[in-house]
Amino acid sequence: MTKSGPTSSHTPVLLSETLDALAVQPGGRYIDCTLGGAGHAAAIMEKASPGGQLLGIDADPDAIVRAREKLDAYRDAVLLVNDNFTNLQSICIKYDFFPVHGILLDLGLSSMQLDDSGRGFSFQHDDPLDMRFNPDQKITAASIVNTSPEERLANIIYAYGEESQSRKIAREIVKARPIDTTFHLAQLIENTIGRRGKIHPATRTFQALRIAVNQELEHLESVLKQAIELLGYEGRLVVISYHSLEDRIVKQFLHQEARGCICPPETPICVCGHTPRLRIVNKKVIMPSADEIAYNPRSRSAKLRAAERIITPGVTYASTDDHTYLILAQSGIWRKPVILEKIKTVFLAA
Ligand SMILES: C[S@@+](CC[C@H](N)C(=O)[O-])C[C@H]1O[C@@H](n2cnc3c(N)ncnc32)[C@H](O)[C@@H]1O
Repeated sequence: MTKSGPTSSHTPVLLSETLDALAVQPGGRYIDCTLGGAGHAAAIMEKASPGGQLLGIDADPDAIVRAREKLDAYRDAVLLVNDNFTNLQSICIKYDFFPVHGILLDLGLSSMQLDDSGRGFSFQHDDPLDMRFNPDQKITAASIVNTSPEERLANIIYAYGEESQSRKIAREIVKARPIDTTFHLAQLIENTIGRRGKIHPATRTFQALRIAVNQELEHLESVLKQAIELLGYEGRLVVISYHSLEDRIVKQFLHQEARGCICPPETPICVCGHTPRLRIVNKKVIMPSADEIAYNPRSRSAKLRAAERIITPGVTYASTDDHTYLILAQSGIWRKPVILEKIKTVFLAA
C-alpha cells in the first residue's frame, strides 16, 4: 500500500457470471486463489451462507489485509492465506480444506496494485521498477531489466508481451542501463518505437516484465493441475484470464482434461488410458457485456472459462483420488457438507 493508505478499490469482473459458473450453493466450500479486493470472495460467501466456507489465497500481503476487513462478517467461515497459489495443494492439505465445491482463479493484478501499490505495475505513475506480487520475492522488474543479457531480455519481451519490436527495445534498454523507474523505462520505449495506435507503446513490455517477475504462466499451469485434484465430484473450476497467453493455457488444459484418449492421431489403438476428468461448462468463452465494459473498462479483455469435475462410471481410474471420487459419486454423499469429515478420511486414507 502507499504510505497514505489505499485510495482505489477493485471492481470484481464478471461477478454474476462467476457465481453462476461456480454454481455457488449454501453450505458449499470454495477456494478463491486470487483474493485481491475480495469482491468475488464476499459475493461467494453471501451466496454460500448459511454454512459456506472459503479459503482465500493471495501472494500480496496487502490484499490479505484488505480482504480480512471486507470479509469480517464471515470471519468464522473464512481462512485467508498469504501465499502463492502454486502451493495450492500443500495449503489445502495443511488446513484440511478439500475436497471443495468450487475453485476460482481471477488472474492478473488488482486495481489497487495497479493504481496504489507504488510497486511499478503501471507506467501512469513514476514508481520503482518492482512489479512483484509478493514483496519478499527476490527478483524484481529492475533486476531483470538491469542484469539480463540482451537476447534474454528480447525473448522475454517477445514471448510474454507478444511485442514485435522486442529486439529493438532490448537493445536500447541495454544501452541505457541502469533503469530503475517506470517513467524512465516507458519513455525509453516510446523514444525507441514511437506511438502507434491507441495503446501506449510500453504496454506490451510492461506486461512481459510482470509475467516474468511473477512467473505467471508457469504458476498458472501448475495451479490448474493441482486444482483438478481438489475438486469434489461435480465441483467447478472457474478461471478468468486477461490476455491471450493465459487464456491459451486455460483453454488447452480444460480441453485436454475433458477428452478421453489423448494418443497422437496416428496411434492405431489407445495406449494412453486417459479418461476425461472435466466437463466443459461453457462451450463458448464468457466475456463482459458492453454495459460492464462501459462501467468497468478494465474488464474489457476478460475471458471466463468453467469446467466441472466428472467421473465416468464403469471406468477404472488410475489414481487413488479418482477412485475416491467414484465412491463418493456413486453414493451421492459428497455434496452434504456434514459428512465432509468422513470424505476427508477416505480421501487421505486412499
Ligand atoms: C485480478 S486480482 C483479483 C481480484 C478479486 N477477484 C476481487 O474480486 O477483488 C488478482 C489477484 O491475484 C493475486 N495473484 C496473482 N498471481 C498470484 C499467485 N500466483 N498466487 C497468489 N496470488 C496471486 C494478485 O496479487 C491479485 O491480488
